[in-house]
Amino acid sequence: MEMNKYRNNIIEGNCLDVLCGFQDNLVDMTLTSPPYDNLRSYKGFVFPFEEIANELYRITKDGGVVVWVVNDATIKCSETGTSFKQALYFKEIGFNLHDTMIFQKKNPIPQIYKKRYNGTFEYMFIFSKGVVKTHNPIKIDCLHAGLKLNGTTYKNYSRGEQTRSKMAKPVKKQKIKGNIWEYVVGKNKEDQDAKGHPAPFPCSLARDHISSWSNPGDLVLDPMSGSGTTCLAALQLGRDYIGIDVSHDYCELAKQRISKFSQNGDIFQNVEMQKKRSA
Ligand SMILES: C[S@@+](CC[C@H](N)C(=O)[O-])C[C@H]1O[C@@H](n2cnc3c(N)ncnc32)[C@H](O)[C@@H]1O
Repeated sequence: MEMNKYRNNIIEGNCLDVLCGFQDNLVDMTLTSPPYDNLRSYKGFVFPFEEIANELYRITKDGGVVVWVVNDATIKCSETGTSFKQALYFKEIGFNLHDTMIFQKKNPIPQIYKKRYNGTFEYMFIFSKGVVKTHNPIKIDCLHAGLKLNGTTYKNYSRGEQTRSKMAKPVKKQKIKGNIWEYVVGKNKEDQDAKGHPAPFPCSLARDHISSWSNPGDLVLDPMSGSGTTCLAALQLGRDYIGIDVSHDYCELAKQRISKFSQNGDIFQNVEMQKKRSA
């Protein structure tokens, strides 16, 4: 297949049919979120999960990752557990479960049902095909930077060493961010452009994953691209993208968002964003 016609395009179709035409080991990273257990209506399209997962394994490069953002429906007072079943299936077909991350919502939708705590997060499973080839970690400031911890020592739990042996160094300026990521949903100006889709990613969530797991020039796929957030973020960060969605309306919305960004030539924002990430 001539892949160039798909590169930097939004393709309307069932992702399984489209992915079947892709060559092996093509994609550096996938960032996607599938329809969650019929939690929302996406115009009634079916979702063949296992076949899609198999295709994702085949087309992912060695060391590439799939970021799978997912949640469960609650049916008859019980969560379905579909997200865990899917994670275990990805492992069964050869992916590593590299990390289980949490997408924490700063402004969750209030829950009507009173006998449980308000659901405020979704899973972000990171699957890798072998050892992850790219990780550009986001760093955050240490709370106690520079503090000398007199008398405090390290323990090496991974080696099973419980004895305190080595003196700790002063606390560093920065450390790698934790794996619970917090975002405001649907309120930022750039996210408002996705109105018309029931479940878009926050743009900053997409940028954070893409900058973490890929490099400029890499190919980023979203096989269920909806309003096109992954593709837009990939473009902003200098990656190539392929978006696929079964809905004509969502493909049009994604194309509009991408073209708005391209036309406005928001290069300044792009450069500033890249500077911020590499600082
Ligand atoms: C959770 S939404 C993705 C939202 C997206 N992350 C965004 O930022 O807008 C899931 C999407 O999967 C699409 N979809 C469902 N079944 C599909 C299939 N078989 N092939 C391609 N897309 C599909 C739906 O139309 C919907 O837009």
